[in-house]
Amino acid sequence: MSDLSDVWKRVDSVAKFLGEHLGPAPDAVMVLGSGLRDVASELTDERALQFDEIPYWPKSTVAGHTGELRCGKLGDRRVLLQLGRVHLYEGYTVEEVVRPIRSIIQWGVKTVIMTNAAGGINEYLKPGALMFIDDHLNLTGHNPLVGPNDDSRGERFPDMTDTYSRKLRALLVEEASRLDIDFKMGVYAGLLGPSYETPAEVKMLRGLGADAVGMSTVLEVVAARHMGADIAGISCISNMAASYNGPRLTHEDVQMAAGRATTQMKRLILSVVEKL
Ligand code: HPA
Repeated sequence: MSDLSDVWKRVDSVAKFLGEHLGPAPDAVMVLGSGLRDVASELTDERALQFDEIPYWPKSTVAGHTGELRCGKLGDRRVLLQLGRVHLYEGYTVEEVVRPIRSIIQWGVKTVIMTNAAGGINEYLKPGALMFIDDHLNLTGHNPLVGPNDDSRGERFPDMTDTYSRKLRALLVEEASRLDIDFKMGVYAGLLGPSYETPAEVKMLRGLGADAVGMSTVLEVVAARHMGADIAGISCISNMAASYNGPRLTHEDVQMAAGRATTQMKRLILSVVEKL
């Protein structure tokens, strides 16, 4: 187990580095998952950092996930875009998976918008759909809060009701409706991966109350919640989760389909950020 003080020393050191290189903490961070990076094309006045320039920042190993941080303005708001993230299935520890989001919050960012590509389980979630995350099932078998707790960073037993902030969900709904962007709301199941689910597992997940399934987000959300951040989550449905008569799933297809939802995501995020 990592020594507790080392865990937070690394977080503090990344937070300090971000402050030195990107300036004061912006209003919000958006973590953009596979295929969703195009949102960054709207950023002005920006400063960027490659992940490999940042001490202690874990480097992604997945094709299409090489990462950077871009800090700048979307409209009148200063935001940080995190392009890419690392996953447990790459072999990183839970502590490494959540170190980036912890560091960003430690820097002073209070609002976290998580995005991901996900497989649709509920039949109303077709490829290209946006799902606002109401709640999640952490089925990774891990929790970033295991081990000694530093009470100065967050509670030992954080409450997980309304983890996905009611206020931010209402704002997403309001702005999507105003912009005539189609969306659904639902429960995201976060699994370890990297194999996609078997059809039997998808049936099980449906029974457990999941509407969409993916391999990220839930650990970062637990860590962000622990530190008291306001959190919103958006899944871009890239494919129907596996079924007996469905197509075979490939990473390339999933990325391309996630990209198709980006135009709507971009419009939505731009207008939500203005109203934070
Ligand atoms: N399963 C798990 N993760 C995913 C999927 C899926 O079907 N699509 C995109 N990420």
